[in-house]
Amino acid sequence: MELAPLTIERLLNAAREAQNHAWAPYSHFQVGAAVLAEDGRVFQGCNMENASYGLTVCAERNALAATVVAGARPAVVAVVGPQVGLPPCGACRQVLAEFGLDLQIVLTAPDPPGHTVVTVRDLLPDAFSFDPR
Ligand code: THU
Repeated sequence: MELAPLTIERLLNAAREAQNHAWAPYSHFQVGAAVLAEDGRVFQGCNMENASYGLTVCAERNALAATVVAGARPAVVAVVGPQVGLPPCGACRQVLAEFGLDLQIVLTAPDPPGHTVVTVRDLLPDAFSFDPR
């Protein structure tokens, strides 16, 4: 699915808004994510750190959780952070893969048009999966 520039801009703006809400008192590394659901709704997530560091939840996983709890399914995920082109961490790649290797990920980019679109397949070759049936 080719993403319209306006769709990408809308998602990146939603991710930037979420980034401002990041709870990151330990790393001061604020990350925001936005999910475009299959039904057209947009859901946001930010990282949420914890004094027990390992309990930190990344922006991507919080945005996916917001999507699922609303009864929606993700189609596109945008991620923004303090670094241009911040890619999802390895754990988030596996969680993103849960919703299909064709899920599209919008990352910021240094050169015009300011973003790139990749798939989970690009980010996580040979993803773990199993057939629960
Ligand atoms: N972080 C994310 O939210 N997403 C990523 O894909 C990479 C890392 C957060 C976790 C932690 O709160 C901070 O960034 C520094 O690692």
